[in-house]
Amino acid sequence: MIHLIATGGTIAGEADPESGGARYRAGVRPVGALLDAVPGLAPFALSAEQVLALDSKDMTPEDWLTVLAAVRRALANPAVDGTVILHGTDTLEETAYFLQLTLPAGKPVVLTGAMRPADHPQADGPANLLAAVRLAASPEAHGKGVLAVMNATAHAARHLVKARTTGLDAFESAVDWATARPDGRFADLTANTLPRVDILPGYAGAPAGLIDASVAAGARGLVLALAGHGSVPAAWRPALHRARDAGVAILRASRCAGPVIRNANADDDGEGWLTAGSLPPPKARIALMLALACGRPFEAD
Ligand code: SIN
Repeated sequence: MIHLIATGGTIAGEADPESGGARYRAGVRPVGALLDAVPGLAPFALSAEQVLALDSKDMTPEDWLTVLAAVRRALANPAVDGTVILHGTDTLEETAYFLQLTLPAGKPVVLTGAMRPADHPQADGPANLLAAVRLAASPEAHGKGVLAVMNATAHAARHLVKARTTGLDAFESAVDWATARPDGRFADLTANTLPRVDILPGYAGAPAGLIDASVAAGARGLVLALAGHGSVPAAWRPALHRARDAGVAILRASRCAGPVIRNANADDDGEGWLTAGSLPPPKARIALMLALACGRPFEAD
């Protein structure tokens, strides 16, 4: 049996009557109605639960923990062979990577969503849902870690990014999903909250006051989404030193694709800074939140 966990998203979206059809609302249609729209699911034994009904821009770290608990419950059921999570596309890669780090290797976990709402005449959700169930039911998906399927293409959570704002081909990943590996380094996570870690963007004239404001608001870590090879603005250094001296973890990442190499563009060892390696800022943030929650050193991969 494949267990479906619905969290909302455009896949469950419907036209917003208040906008005269110009816009839609995500996370409106219940999971039962989504399943009824896919006759190709008939051969599969399925169960389903509606865990959240959100537009994924509103997903919080507490919601990640809610989804994790639902997946753990499902996977612990011997009758369940795999799970499919229906999710908004905007932060799908974040939830996918959070689960990649917190679920043990084993039964398939596949996320999917849609770029067009459920009431669109050419809705992509039904085909994505069918593809996700097929993948979750396939032996090839076992032991691969968390996967996603969009637009007839499978992706590994580690490499998945939403690269385009529109279009059915909005997602991409640099590495073939068939070579994906599980991670699960935080599968023992028991925390029921996660520490605040903020992402601070580097850009021309970015004010250092953002650093002090984050720390004053309770951030225990800062991911710096910097220009180029993680280049730290000189004007940020005093505030970064104050943050570091207050025990806040500082992690150098880049807004560009490609690695931030330790000590290559800054004295990371001397400054006491962490480096993102090839993790993009949102994923580096998740790894840092989990490392802080579990009292373990941050590792980029
Ligand atoms: C969302 O992320 O929930 C809305 C956008 C989408 O699913 O494509």
